[in-house]
Amino acid sequence: MRYVVTGAAGFIGSQLLRTLLDRGHEATGWDAFTDYYDPALKEENARDLPVERVDIGADGLDLDGVDGVFHLAGQPGVKSFGSVFPVYVRHNVLASQRLFEAAAQARVRTVFASSSSIYGDAASYPTPEDTVSRPLSPYGITKLACEHLAQAYRQEFGLDVVTLRYFTIYGPRQRPDMAFASMVAALAENRPFELFGDGTQSRSFTYVADAVEATIGAMEHGSPGSTFNVGGGSEVSMLQAIEALGSIAGRRLEIVQSPRREGDATRTAADTSRIQREIGWEARTSFVEGLAAQWRWAADRVAAA
Ligand SMILES: NC(=O)c1ccc[n+]([C@@H]2O[C@H](COP(=O)([O-])OP(=O)(O)OC[C@H]3O[C@@H](n4cnc5c(N)ncnc54)[C@H](O)[C@@H]3O)[C@@H](O)[C@H]2O)c1
Repeated sequence: MRYVVTGAAGFIGSQLLRTLLDRGHEATGWDAFTDYYDPALKEENARDLPVERVDIGADGLDLDGVDGVFHLAGQPGVKSFGSVFPVYVRHNVLASQRLFEAAAQARVRTVFASSSSIYGDAASYPTPEDTVSRPLSPYGITKLACEHLAQAYRQEFGLDVVTLRYFTIYGPRQRPDMAFASMVAALAENRPFELFGDGTQSRSFTYVADAVEATIGAMEHGSPGSTFNVGGGSEVSMLQAIEALGSIAGRRLEIVQSPRREGDATRTAADTSRIQREIGWEARTSFVEGLAAQWRWAADRVAAA
């Protein structure tokens, strides 16, 4: 198949593009290499991958002859109140509107990467897809706006779209602003780790290779217009994650506590029965296996530096 992956220099997109190429698909990446985190890390992710510099919010989007587009480009991170909000509108809402417009016109199947952040502190746990969305962060609100845009393009212009709600993806190359990335980097560099909140906040942590499988599964088998949670299977608190990392690495992480971050949900827990039933996907990587892989990756980088 001929695919386009947007956000292909990012944490998840680069691993998705690699997997598609390894499976013999013809695939191209688009990425604007934004400076939300060090673009050198994105250059490194995209090394040896066919990634073109395309800003989805501004450039011409040619999807002629493409069988499917994986739309992962966006501005992530729940720290989105205040002066950064226009960046979220630009790279999530505006960019996605342009992508959906182009995909609808070219009649190209689209898989859109949304987020568990659209649930906020959810009304029920584990949270099924039809739970009312009450995002707590401007980030979650822009992702929800994108979901609605996708459905409007489906309704009015026949866009063939499948929406995925990723639940906290982790593993090698995780974005440096994410908790596990700072946690493993702190331990590898013998620095204290800044823990936001009391550490009881919990997540359905999802290993990146599992998220990539779910994303390809959604492209291949998701019915048009459907929405799926992509969650890791077990729920783990930050304190449990810190404990597990200590056992894996054989030494304890020093913690400095800071107040909870605005916009951060207390808990996320994915109900994944729909994606299991309709796509046959479930998370395969155990939490300890996945965390060990991320630890090895981070420790090797520090050792090589
Ligand atoms: N990592 C997670 O846990 C998680 C959870 C829920 C949802 N998501 C979503 O999944 C997607 C990928 O997340 P990630 O963690 O890999 O983030 P990432 O920041 O590493 O990757 C996103 C990429 O999109 C690119 N980009 C941003 N704006 C663009 C634009 N206008 N045009 C072209 N490229 C642009 C960035 O340069 C970046 O390389 C994002 O849409 C994110 O919101 C991620």
